Amino acid sequence: MPLSNRSTLTQYLIEERRRFPGASGALNALILDVALACKAIARAVAFGELGGAMGDALPDAKGGEINVQGEVQKRLDVVSNEVFIRRNEWSGLLAGMASEEMELPYQIPGSYPRGKYLLVFDPLDGSSNIDVNVSVGSIFSILRAPDDVIKSGRDVTEADFLQPGATQVAAGYALYGPTTMLMLSVGNGVAGFTLNPNLGEFMLTHSDVRVPADTKEFAINASNSRFWEPPVKRYVDECLAGATGPRGKDFNMRWIASMVAEAHRILMRGGVFMYPRDMKDPSKPGRLRLLYEANPVGFLMEQAGGRASTGRQPILGVKPSGLHQRIGLVFGSKNEVERIERYHHEPA
Ligand code: AHG
Ligand code: MN
Ligand code: MN
Ligand code: MN
Repeated sequence: MPLSNRSTLTQYLIEERRRFPGASGALNALILDVALACKAIARAVAFGELGGAMGDALPDAKGGEINVQGEVQKRLDVVSNEVFIRRNEWSGLLAGMASEEMELPYQIPGSYPRGKYLLVFDPLDGSSNIDVNVSVGSIFSILRAPDDVIKSGRDVTEADFLQPGATQVAAGYALYGPTTMLMLSVGNGVAGFTLNPNLGEFMLTHSDVRVPADTKEFAINASNSRFWEPPVKRYVDECLAGATGPRGKDFNMRWIASMVAEAHRILMRGGVFMYPRDMKDPSKPGRLRLLYEANPVGFLMEQAGGRASTGRQPILGVKPSGLHQRIGLVFGSKNEVERIERYHHEPA
């Protein structure tokens, strides 16, 4: 394959930074470390069974095969978490990290300097799909640490991470699909990069990604329909009614069970994704996690002209109450998400 004149991720980041003459380059360096972690995970995923990282994680001395979510960890959940930590703890760019796979914030070891950013991640999203060779990904969110953390270099606490999604400095995901892609926003639209496996570089292949405002595609786990709240049931029923129903058009349905892959389909061609709050388990107000799933994907959607919501309010406006807080999530084509919000606000 001839060397094209496409930008690399590094070039894209440097050109973005030129818009802020005073910027130190710390954010760019951090994003490149995250991208390297994603490349390493992409390799582990690509080797599949040959790499010995498939299947459930083996219990460690502390019985650590069940994570804080109550989920059985896959070996690759654990490996990917480790890759994110090792690639990022040393750099002096981070004040702390938090992950789906760790109950408490990760403190930067004393042997390394501390920096001004917080990195929050879902190291492997869709991990129930890993053993059946269906796309998975990694999702990340970058926040600025509170000023007193930056000044004092103290250990981070859960409270330091509880910032609304609107404050994210950058967010993105890597998708380990037929090709590995990195979708990124540093707050100036969304750019997509495809991993060139020959060069080991993410190359800019999708600039200024936009989510169409209208769609005929929706994604929801319909096995939960008996637990849905009336506005969600109404919306889905109307889609299912097709061309002769109130929507006057036929809809198609998709469910991959890797949110990151659903988000990618929607960024590429529109659609609406719902994992709404439901009545299945009153102790869980939704399935997906606010800080490392809903917020970064919400940031990308909004930056691409789409919309992300709890069903009732914009996701990015929610003040988090816990590191692993779950939340109802609806995102995608703007007009559909607004319609779903309208149904939630209209009296039944
Ligand atoms: P994770 O693998 O990081 O725990 O996240 C799984 C999530 C998400 O990717 C997906 O949309 C959803 O769980 C799938 O839920 P169902 O099992 O209800 O389909
Ligand atoms: Mn999980
Ligand atoms: Mn996930
Ligand atoms: Mn995960």
